[in-house]
Amino acid sequence: MKSFEFAVPTDVLFGVGQENQLAQRLKPFGKKILLTYGGGSIKRTGLYDRIKDILKEYELFELGGIEPNPRVSSVNEGARICRENQIDMILAVGGGSTIDCSKVIAAAVNYEGDAWDLVTGKAQITGALPLAVVLTLAATGSEMDCAAVISNADTEEKLLVGHPALYPAITILNPENTYSVPSYQTASGSADMMSHVIESYFDQEEAFVPDAISEGLLRSAIKYTPVALAKPDDYEARAQLMWTSSLALNGLPTTGKNFAWSCHYIEHELSAHYDITHGAGLAMLTPKWMRYVLSEDTVDKFYDYAVNVWGIQPSEDKMQVANQGIDATEQFFIQIGLPSSLGEFQIDDSKFEEMAEKAVEVGHLGNAYVPLTKEDVIAILKMCL
Ligand code: NZQ
Ligand code: ZN
Repeated sequence: MKSFEFAVPTDVLFGVGQENQLAQRLKPFGKKILLTYGGGSIKRTGLYDRIKDILKEYELFELGGIEPNPRVSSVNEGARICRENQIDMILAVGGGSTIDCSKVIAAAVNYEGDAWDLVTGKAQITGALPLAVVLTLAATGSEMDCAAVISNADTEEKLLVGHPALYPAITILNPENTYSVPSYQTASGSADMMSHVIESYFDQEEAFVPDAISEGLLRSAIKYTPVALAKPDDYEARAQLMWTSSLALNGLPTTGKNFAWSCHYIEHELSAHYDITHGAGLAMLTPKWMRYVLSEDTVDKFYDYAVNVWGIQPSEDKMQVANQGIDATEQFFIQIGLPSSLGEFQIDDSKFEEMAEKAVEVGHLGNAYVPLTKEDVIAILKMCL
């Protein structure tokens, strides 16, 4: 177990009707709020009207239409609105894309240039407006972390930026706000939260407590995703998934570990070039990556995963048990309706070289749990054809 610092400054309000507290809770931040949201789901569900009613004492400005895989053009537009109107804080109502876009808007307000500079690291984040979140989709963990992932359509890049100033100050987790999430997004969200846990679970560093937490989070996603798919308004299932999403990426499962991820960097390349749904890409990649890195060196960890997460019967043939755990992972993603091959996304091998090179460079995959070269990533992508 490595040394670590663990601090999450986000105030989480969980449960039915918690958004009603916003009227009071946002007072210390000021009067002028930029309300950000995606393509319109919050208008269809009535959440938009409710939020506007709750915040009727405030002066509201709006940025709607934030894309899934949010574009830097939206970030620049949001920063412009904030600067022109001296906005005091941002309220993001939506999924990871709306939250991520809002985080970088909050940081870009203080930067006159193209916000893409803050994403690439050409310019440093020096601070950010306060951000509040009303989460509508259990998936990314952005509601309780300090990361954002932004896409640039011109350069076909999708990059992660992180800074302590990007933690939301307040996050509202009302499971009822996720009842309307369509099944494909529900399943993709579960694959994403599972991937966040898996990426840290498979790590060179042994850490019993975070691994036990991780196994519990994975069992939660495995138990409650099919329930939410069968009955979208099942409160308990939506509640467990929502909290699983937040805990999966608030740093807790990674405490004492290396934070050396693999699949996310490969998936970000697929999203950057083909604009696919993040969690769906991870569901396809993860079992293939698992098969690729399973070896005599890694079998013990995969054995624990199979037994403790999937309930595979322990046996002396560790390799067989490990493979059964990977089979169970792949079958689960197929059962919840997610793709298991690139063909299902209409993606061919024409950009494998380019994507593999970038994933290795951006993700420092040479330091991953099992170090990956460009050729390794191409081999994993070929397994997905
Ligand atoms: O845009 P609207 O109309 O709101 O519709 C969205 C969108 O079409 C819809 N949706 C969301 N809540 C809904 C709903 N539809 C009906 N009812 C609701 N209650 O779902 C679609 C997807 O939304 P999006 O926000 O894109 O999904 P998600 O939360 O999965 O976010 C994905 C983005 O987050 C990044 C991903 O790469 C991707 O860009 N990630 C962010 C991370 C972070 N900040 O830490 C980590 C992750 O690994 C991930 O990379
Ligand atoms: Zn993710």
